[in-house]
Amino acid sequence: MEKEINESIQGQSMILDERKGNTKKMFIESYGCQMNFSDSEIVASILANEGYNTTQNLEEADLVLVNTCSIRDKAEQTVRKRLEQYNAVKKINPSMKVGVLGCMAERLKEKFLDEEKIVDMVVGPDAYKDIPNLLKEVEDGRDAINVILSKEETYGDIAPVRLNSNGVNAFVSITRGCDNMCTFCVVPFTRGRERSREPQSILEEIQDLWNKGFKEVTLLGQNVDSYLWYGGGLKKDFVKATEMQKATAVDFAQLLDMCATQFPKMRFRFSTSNPQDMHIEVIETMAKHHNICKYIHLPVQSGSTRILEAMNRQHTREEYMSLVDRIYEIIPEISLSQDMISGFPTETEEDHQDTLSLMEHAKYDFGFMFAYSERPGTLAARKMEDDVPEEVKKRRLNEIIALQQKLGWERTRRFVGQEVEVLIEKESKRSDAHWSGRNSQNTVVVFPKENYKPGDFVMVKVTDCTSATLIGEAVGYSEKMQS
Ligand code: SAH
Ligand code: F3S
Repeated sequence: MEKEINESIQGQSMILDERKGNTKKMFIESYGCQMNFSDSEIVASILANEGYNTTQNLEEADLVLVNTCSIRDKAEQTVRKRLEQYNAVKKINPSMKVGVLGCMAERLKEKFLDEEKIVDMVVGPDAYKDIPNLLKEVEDGRDAINVILSKEETYGDIAPVRLNSNGVNAFVSITRGCDNMCTFCVVPFTRGRERSREPQSILEEIQDLWNKGFKEVTLLGQNVDSYLWYGGGLKKDFVKATEMQKATAVDFAQLLDMCATQFPKMRFRFSTSNPQDMHIEVIETMAKHHNICKYIHLPVQSGSTRILEAMNRQHTREEYMSLVDRIYEIIPEISLSQDMISGFPTETEEDHQDTLSLMEHAKYDFGFMFAYSERPGTLAARKMEDDVPEEVKKRRLNEIIALQQKLGWERTRRFVGQEVEVLIEKESKRSDAHWSGRNSQNTVVVFPKENYKPGDFVMVKVTDCTSATLIGEAVGYSEKMQS
């Protein structure tokens, strides 16, 4: 796996079905996590009601929106460069308006309007419903900003407009915000407190996707395992819930069970799991349902108990390894992936070795690996010196990446000779005679097209592999999943 793979899906411009009667054009692009891509679909829906269709051509846009990421300094630099490019276009088309959405908007607030003269509108992640009002202010020549974080907003009542969609896979948000306060992480500051979306609205959105022919849904949240619906409000206020609310509360295992039972031919994935909130019931529910994919993204960040504590992760190295053992026991065919940070303040060579040995233990299929980037306002930035030299961070990161490549290669190879169930997503990038899809474990599989089509569930006999891709031949439809 490459470093910062999360960012490799950045910068896609998006298309939206034309809505008749809409005359204005907006250009929207998203950077960062899957949640941002999902949020942009909510924004597109809000703006479709305001007379905007999307365009992929920046030059013809009346409104340009960029949904931004603050997770590492590099992510912010990418957006700043993009703003410069918008500025060049704005010189030719002065009536074009530019709005910054998402985490950078939340983190920098008014500073954006002062520093970046080309920005007309700044909107935080909980304020998208206010965009129609903000646009009116912009039209009246005023700078417009709303960065208020909400205790309730989940956008559960907005039907997202699917952007850049292959018609097969879709994201559905189930929680917003995060209460974990990992000391390195800016997310709790930019996305606010954790709240869960009403199960009924989640199921309705999935029903709508099913009706439109979608075959795989990824349930999204910063920390999905801590999903808890009890009638509204913040997760942290659950202690104040009434007895009735407590009796009818729905947790993540129950939500998964409801989804998998109600839509037996829809595949489900979820992201992201935080080890400290992962319940055994979730793993048991995964084991129970064929249509819940056997893949868990289980970020750990470090293999050293001392560093985990400094990061405010609520578990030790040993506890994490026991959790991994338990998962492999209940679901032997599971794939796991990690997020890892190299060079957190005070990290020693011994801590780094702990990270490498934990990786060997967990036998991750995939990984997303980063050098520590100090984020202003976080506890680590306020209390700890960023004292691991850049070249040491890089060298450790490279060692982590090299080990992950070795582990990933070993894990990919395990499928050779097996029959795997694949959901066809699109044409293979390398060959127009091949389909590309993923098996339950999230490994990419390519095989000759024959008469199959995207959205089909097929059984593929794996004959060969590269480091991260399986190669095979279809042997028929999946009896369990093909409808
Ligand atoms: N729970 C979230 C995590 C968001 S951040 C989710 O849904 O994925 C994604 C990853 O970025 C984290 O797991 C962490 O590995 C990395 N990251 C976060 N803050 C970072 C920082 N300050 N420097 C380097 N990497 C960071
Ligand atoms: Fe960030 Fe930790 Fe939450 S990594 S998103 S504070 S679980």
